[in-house]
Amino acid sequence: MRVVNPVAARVLSTVAGQLGNPHGTLGKLTARILNRGNRSLIDAAVDAAEPGIGDAVADIGFGGGVGLSLLLARVGATGTVHGFDISPDMIARAASDLRGEIATGRLTVAPGSLTDLPLDDAALDAAITVNTVYFIPDLAPACTEFARVLRPKSRIVIGVNDPDGMAKAPFTRYGFTLRPVAEIRAALEAAGLEVEHRQIPDRPFTGHLLIGRRAG
Ligand SMILES: C[S@@+](CC[C@H](N)C(=O)[O-])C[C@H]1O[C@@H](n2cnc3c(N)ncnc32)[C@H](O)[C@@H]1O
Repeated sequence: MRVVNPVAARVLSTVAGQLGNPHGTLGKLTARILNRGNRSLIDAAVDAAEPGIGDAVADIGFGGGVGLSLLLARVGATGTVHGFDISPDMIARAASDLRGEIATGRLTVAPGSLTDLPLDDAALDAAITVNTVYFIPDLAPACTEFARVLRPKSRIVIGVNDPDGMAKAPFTRYGFTLRPVAEIRAALEAAGLEVEHRQIPDRPFTGHLLIGRRAG
């Protein structure tokens, strides 16, 4: 049995809690770390989602918000980006940092969960969600929700770090659900999506993109 010093356990649990719902003073630091550390995987997820000029797209669980900026650049002046997160502090941060984009109507940021998105059916041309599915116990309702909000031929990209690598990071013992990549693929397929898997060389862990495409 692994014995964890109570102070270390508290630190690790705080780190995990911040990653799952950044908040307060530490949440500001967490947002900056997320934007820096996850940028390359988020960038790859945006590429894989193939957003085009004028599209309606979403970043679900945007955290520090770098994905929102990357998506805004891809959809141009006529597109719309929706950012959803469960963290009120991350929503407030994005609303402040990106207030100019919100004022033009190109960006909305709002509370929303992977399993309950405030969007009409077939509202999106593309969506990404990166480093988020660790925080939901059951993937099926989220994948059903992704399939609901996608238009025909559009894509949802789930980005995760390699589960075997993540399992070596001690904070993941505090509330993360680490799944084999095959399980994420199977959940998207069970929701009726066609799935492609890409590996992204990244540090410290290999990234995985599961690209779910709604049939035309
Ligand atoms: C580890 S951060 C990742 C943020 C960003 N996507 C990235 O890769 O840097 C996880 C984010 O997902 C959000 N989150 C956690 N559970 C969620 C859920 N059920 N629905 C939507 N967002 C969620 C958290 O509040 C946090 O902002």
